[in-house]
Amino acid sequence: MTPGRVVFIGAGPGAADLITMRGAAWLARAEVVLHDALTDPALRDLAPQARWIDVGKRGYAHATGQAKIDALLIDEARRHAVVVRLKGGDPSLFGRLEEELQALAAAGIECEVIPGITAALAAAADARRPLTRRGSGRTLSLATAMTRAGPHELQRQADTEVFYMAGLRLAALAQELLRAGWTADTPASVVSRAGWPDSLASEHRLADLGDAATLHAGRPTIVVVGAGAAAAAVPAPQTGGLDAGQNGNAPSST
Ligand SMILES: C[S@@+](CC[C@H](N)C(=O)[O-])C[C@H]1O[C@@H](n2cnc3c(N)ncnc32)[C@H](O)[C@@H]1O
Repeated sequence: MTPGRVVFIGAGPGAADLITMRGAAWLARAEVVLHDALTDPALRDLAPQARWIDVGKRGYAHATGQAKIDALLIDEARRHAVVVRLKGGDPSLFGRLEEELQALAAAGIECEVIPGITAALAAAADARRPLTRRGSGRTLSLATAMTRAGPHELQRQADTEVFYMAGLRLAALAQELLRAGWTADTPASVVSRAGWPDSLASEHRLADLGDAATLHAGRPTIVVVGAGAAAAAVPAPQTGGLDAGQNGNAPSST
């Protein structure tokens, strides 16, 4: 049998209605869906015909996880016409896309990548804090606060810096940013479960970033530092702060 194709789809930051129309159209054609730890069951309604396989890895807990996922993708693509690999946010950001593309290319399997809304963009939207600013925020970096080898030495990269995977080490991240040259009064915006109805946003200064740990504990979290973390120059609806509350980001409430 001719091998099928693997379509990588960015599901967006979680809530099912943030997937793209192109992603939804490919899901409707899928025979098998290998998905990350996505928790919105509504995504399954977009591909009720498919067999759904949870290949979610939690952090680095499963050392052999990636090799197993690669092998499973190849095996399923040899037996089905359309295999979807559904990833949180955008597949190209901190999503091990490279390894999976390499494994499939080596096996001679055709691939396509459909982009998705990355968590940084959903966080900026929920906090009503544009990541770029005219005059003051011209450069943007997207970084991980954690690597397999642990924390890394930070260098100041851009006017606005966005950190993924920082939720468990906010206080340490603040110290690293101060060592990299940011000042203690630099604005920092923290958003957890961005894009979900229960999204939380809080605003801080680097000096007190560690205070956000309790508020956002146990939730996927984005940290924005620098120009893009400052309050926009328009009256903002409730976005929290140390008085953080829910954003209510469903269409009807905005
Ligand atoms: C392995 S990375 C995957 C990023 C994903 N590919 C993307 O483009 O958003 C997982 C990290 O993304 C961030 N993240 C994912 N979903 C999020 C959400 N709904 N709200 C805030 N942060 C989120 C968190 O920092 C989490 O630790």
